[in-house]
Amino acid sequence: MHMEIPYSMVLGRKRTSRLDMGGPPVMTHPLTQDLLSWYDEHKRDLPWRSNRTPYGTLVSEVMLQQTRVDTVIPYYEAFLTKFPTVEDLANADLNDVLSMWSGLGYYSRARNLHKAANQIVQLGRFPKSLPDIRSLSGVGEYIAGAIGSMAFDLDVGAVDGNLHRVLSRVFCDSGDRKRMWTVIEALLPKGRCGDFNQALMDLGSSMCKKNAECSGCPIQKHCGAFSADTVSQYPTKVKKKAKQKVSFVALLIRKTEDHSCIWMGQRPPEKLYGGMVEPCLVLDLTTATMGASDWVQQHLSFTNLSTHHPVDWIDKGRFIHVLTHKRMEIRVLECVVPQDTDPTTWFEESETEPYETMKWYDSTERNSVGVSTLAQKILDQSNTGQLSLF
Ligand code: ADE
Repeated sequence: MHMEIPYSMVLGRKRTSRLDMGGPPVMTHPLTQDLLSWYDEHKRDLPWRSNRTPYGTLVSEVMLQQTRVDTVIPYYEAFLTKFPTVEDLANADLNDVLSMWSGLGYYSRARNLHKAANQIVQLGRFPKSLPDIRSLSGVGEYIAGAIGSMAFDLDVGAVDGNLHRVLSRVFCDSGDRKRMWTVIEALLPKGRCGDFNQALMDLGSSMCKKNAECSGCPIQKHCGAFSADTVSQYPTKVKKKAKQKVSFVALLIRKTEDHSCIWMGQRPPEKLYGGMVEPCLVLDLTTATMGASDWVQQHLSFTNLSTHHPVDWIDKGRFIHVLTHKRMEIRVLECVVPQDTDPTTWFEESETEPYETMKWYDSTERNSVGVSTLAQKILDQSNTGQLSLF
């Protein structure tokens, strides 16, 4: 059971917007007024809010997709220092862009952002209309609404997960995110939609969280779910799909003469971890309970340097890495080989993840390419051997 509030009721008193002095009176909903007053006093001081530019807004909104504000702040600041303008980003090597994204996850965002920068440079200006912003690589309806409202003062909403949660509670509407794009229309304040969207984002990440803390909420008196005492019922919980379970063995191959030099593969630019560099992963279809040497004998006997010099593999333990749709079990095996070894052929007979290139990377080279959190965990496992979750 939920209470539906007719949207016709949400139109409040007639008010004249500060930007519409000459035209007909514009309606601003009382909820919107209360929200904006609260925002004016309590808005978070975030780096992309001071000295706002369309480019900074694009970078921050792409980073903020599926990622928390606190996590994004240092990445945003480092990214803008490295690529201060859209031209700098467009001219950058993709490896440098992925390197700045290392650890932030969802790496296709970085690749799309790099493409978008090139589109903008080709256009000769940052697109200003909603359809033109939307045509940039990796820009969907939400990011277009965010850039349009915040950087160009367009009168448009930007419904992300936070806004969906707040609006579904205010209107006791169990509809999906798409529906909230219609719902928000009734509340948009002409000329201040950027602030309005950000106010709802701040509210959604402070008080109107999954477990709501309604005391002190500036729009409590307008909230249908609060007055019906049904806040916890909104938005309707969607059953999450079970994660696909996959097991890999990560082969950490080091050079005798320089242990920091590691044999790594770079993935092709598309798909999962596209363009990222990692110690090579081999699909493991066993339960991998056997010891390192048995496992290698069974799966990688061809890794022998010669019939007289089998590679000495050390089991460095295992860990679980969870992605949105996958639960990855990673077992780490390590070996040290002579300087002139070329392990390319070791991977020809096994089911590896697809690598475009494989080569030795020393620590300096690793700093100039994208290294995912997963790859970093494998490297750390080797250093400490203490990450094991089993
Ligand atoms: N989440 C997404 N965009 C945001 C913004 N501009 N400010 C705060 N949180 C956000």
